[in-house]
Amino acid sequence: MSDKAKLTIGVPRETFAGEKRVALTPLVLPPLFKAGMHVLVENDAGRAAGFSDEVYQEKGATIVARKQVFDESDMIAQVRMLGTNPQEGRADLDLLRPSHILIGISNPLAAPGATKVLAGLRLTVFDMEMIPRITRAQSMDVLSSQANIAGYKSVVLAAEALPKMFPMMTTAAGTIPPARVFILGVGVAGLQAIATARRLGAVVEAFDVRPEVKEQVQSLGAKFVEVELDTSAAKGSGGYAKEQSEDFLRRQRELMAKVVAASDVVITTAQVPGKKAPVLVTEAMVQGMAPGSVIVDLAAQQGGNVEPSRPGEVVHYHGVTIIGPTNVPSTVPFHASQMYAKNISAFILLLVKKGKLEIDFEDQIVRETLIARGGEVVNARVRDALGLPPLAEEELAKLKEQVPAEV
Ligand code: NAI
Repeated sequence: MSDKAKLTIGVPRETFAGEKRVALTPLVLPPLFKAGMHVLVENDAGRAAGFSDEVYQEKGATIVARKQVFDESDMIAQVRMLGTNPQEGRADLDLLRPSHILIGISNPLAAPGATKVLAGLRLTVFDMEMIPRITRAQSMDVLSSQANIAGYKSVVLAAEALPKMFPMMTTAAGTIPPARVFILGVGVAGLQAIATARRLGAVVEAFDVRPEVKEQVQSLGAKFVEVELDTSAAKGSGGYAKEQSEDFLRRQRELMAKVVAASDVVITTAQVPGKKAPVLVTEAMVQGMAPGSVIVDLAAQQGGNVEPSRPGEVVHYHGVTIIGPTNVPSTVPFHASQMYAKNISAFILLLVKKGKLEIDFEDQIVRETLIARGGEVVNARVRDALGLPPLAEEELAKLKEQVPAEV
């Protein structure tokens, strides 16, 4: 079979300012070739992440110009689709055509307008952030893989900014006590932050509204902060937290103020999918911290867990350094790309049988990640975010037939 006859995946270079990741790395290509696919990579697509064109070629990919990636591919694998690249991403709209299948991340619940634009181009769009949290989909879970990296890096950023050391040291020049680190929000990022801070020798405390987290915190050698809060109803669907009432959050802040004040480092990661992040650390709580303390607000871009934090900025507030990093995984682009590529290639393999595109629309993973098809936004959660009613089953079935699922 000539390469042209093969199902082709295109990997364009990411164009969002500062985005260093790439959707597919050379390492994940062999299983795709084995499944009968051909891969086109835009020249320099992996360079910022540490993957040269030569390494892609050695693995069997073809290096081409951007236009050719779009012209000759059936599927486009990206990190950022229009929703997470709203400016530069527009330049690609002219290169897209209805037969394209787009796979990437677009923040469809918070920025659903972009999904509408892509649907308007009659594209088939899968969003990797919508991967359901079921065992079979773990290898495709980009939120987890990238949150792991953010959790690790948040501690590294804090250690760099703190005028103290993390480990305890007993030296001839005196004994240095260990740094005290408090992690608020113990999902994937929070757990990795605990593990990283512990590896550096800090004394770590943590809190989450989901009560089952206590055991996980303790198993990593950290202390779970016990407070008198009724968290029995805090767990929502898919293992995520529910949005808490303002009353609950006020009480939580009151109870946390002492722990925050006694910490050298506070790392906040608390999020509720599709909602603005809850404010967990107020200006007054920051004022209670010792000068030189450091806060890393990993939710800065989602509205912030820390009142004075600003996305993408380092704020100095009453002697406390408050870091509000955005796109943290991209600061570790080699491994972030490697993990993302593993996730997205596992997903692609789910869509392909014997070198042919064969999408099983009844598969839960396909159903929940498919956000646009046949000219419509099809995902009920994204439609809800747009204020649209869910599509009737018959309408959905018709849309799935409109563009042939087989290429
Ligand atoms: P996330 O990024 O949505 O939120 C981070 C953390 O913030 C969560 O643990 C949440 O409970 C917490 N939070 C929300 N409001 C808070 C508040 N007011 N105070 C303190 N903490 C608050 O969550 P993430 O990292 O995506 O993971 C959530 C959970 O999902 C995991 O711990 C795990 O149990 C589950 N999960 C399941 C997977 C699977 O089954 N395949 C894969 C990954 C995660």
